[in-house]
Amino acid sequence: AESYPNIERDSRFSTLTPADIAHFATICPLVSCDHGASEGELEPFNTDWMRKYRGQSRLILKPKSIHDVSAILKYCNARHLAVVPQGGNTGLVGGSIPIFDEIIVSLNALASIRSFDAVSGILVVDAGVVLETADTFLAKHHHIFPLDLGAKGSCHVGGNVATNAGGLRLLRYGSLHGTVLGVEAVLPDGTILDDLSTLRKNNTGYDLKQLFIGSEGTLGIITAISIVCPPRPTASNVAFFALDSYAAVQTTFTKAKSQLGEILSAFEMMDGTSQRLVAEVTGRRRPLQGESPFYVLVETSGSNPEHDSAKLEAFLEDLMTTETVSDGVLAQDETQLKGLWAWREGIPECLGHWGGVYKYDVSIPLPELYQLVEDVRTRMEQSGLLTAGKTSNEQGVDDVVVDVVGYGHIGDSNLHLNVAVRKYDKRVEQALEPFVYEWIQKRRGSISAEHGLGVAKRDFVGYSRGEVELRVMAGLKRHFDPNGIMNPYKYIKA
Ligand code: FAD
Ligand code: MLT
Ligand code: ZN
Repeated sequence: AESYPNIERDSRFSTLTPADIAHFATICPLVSCDHGASEGELEPFNTDWMRKYRGQSRLILKPKSIHDVSAILKYCNARHLAVVPQGGNTGLVGGSIPIFDEIIVSLNALASIRSFDAVSGILVVDAGVVLETADTFLAKHHHIFPLDLGAKGSCHVGGNVATNAGGLRLLRYGSLHGTVLGVEAVLPDGTILDDLSTLRKNNTGYDLKQLFIGSEGTLGIITAISIVCPPRPTASNVAFFALDSYAAVQTTFTKAKSQLGEILSAFEMMDGTSQRLVAEVTGRRRPLQGESPFYVLVETSGSNPEHDSAKLEAFLEDLMTTETVSDGVLAQDETQLKGLWAWREGIPECLGHWGGVYKYDVSIPLPELYQLVEDVRTRMEQSGLLTAGKTSNEQGVDDVVVDVVGYGHIGDSNLHLNVAVRKYDKRVEQALEPFVYEWIQKRRGSISAEHGLGVAKRDFVGYSRGEVELRVMAGLKRHFDPNGIMNPYKYIKA
């Protein structure tokens, strides 16, 4: 796991005492070695999903109500004890685990569905509700959560809002900045901020909830959200295509937008390397024969199966007759539909198979989006970290880099550039950074499209944001959290 040679523990923060732990025990359940727990029980809270970052927290607090959260933060603020809010711990930038001995406040036990109005589609839920649980609840009421992502079985809706997660259907349902209508949060001094509006329209001053969307636990702890949910589509289709070039991916996207129009609900790209690695790790039979440099998954969601099928068939025929795609398959039933999605959603997990992965989640104008993957591959080869022409199973254990892959949300110009490695290695990191960031800055892209900053991107945010923007952000942070106790050492330097 990563160590932090350029980060020092902030001496403003106190060290946890037995008296602190005794006090917290009067507020809520907790996990601590000084309170009967084993090291092993703390481990999952101190380690991130990628096993790249490791914290040294000695205390996990599990509040059961907003009042518990308030009492915790009030005490931490007065005692200058640093805090890390933790949801499902599926974040990909090292934001959800401590750097040193910060106290972890887990939202796991704050998990009630508060209300749902089937007429407006507005759902109010506690922050600790798991995304899939919220969506399953909505399905019973013929609605859908307007966000979906591979980590849905573990991530919390509070974590989704805290990271402003984008996911697989952003092109259809929009960003959380549009769908989240209200946020209830506890500020660092324990004050409760009730902005849990269920109104679509409310022009009465600054829109405070927006600050919490994407704030990554640096301004306070989100305890509940309200969100507007669309009706659940009754007809869904998934098509999976092989393509010979990135130019063909762009043509297919243009055609999908114009020919599928309002029923288009996802347009995802996977390069050939990513699919080869998924096949290697899972041993599953590929949906299409042979190997292609690019694949695309197109999903439609609508309310009239005949209408959708007619549109999709016309789209397929156009792609085939114009030879935009070289091959394709359409899911015939729910099992096949899920099977095709697995070739896309399964990528993140498979890439970690060899030991580690360097992840870059970037926004780049579409025409140049895939060029970054090619340039990084060349750079890895020129640095002697990847042998040209060899696939992962032809390499030896000494080859540090397994492969360089690209996939992502083409509908949002969001590329996931991933470098899978046998182990985390400073040489790989040095070849990638700041190379990748400079490359993105030249194209006025974003160094983080959806995963956020955490500790991984904190030192690089200047490649996407100007000095004035960063100064205003630092001022906001100091206003909300003058003692700096909320998720320190991350996000931006305040
Ligand atoms: P955590 O990982 O626990 O926390 C993430 C950050 O939010 C931390 O900084 C934490 O301090 C803060 N936080 C968490 N809860 C709260 C709270 N209640 N109040 C204040 N701060 C809080 N992201 C995308 O955008 N799109 C994707 O498609 C996508 N797919 C993914 C697929 C996989 C397999 C995985 C592992 C991750 C994926 N992610 C994706 C990353 C994404 O950020 C998370 O999955 C999710 O949004 C984080 O939710 P979480 O509850 O796990 O938060
Ligand atoms: C995805 O789109 O699969 C997620 O953002 C996770 C990842 O990039 O690994
Ligand atoms: Zn993504």
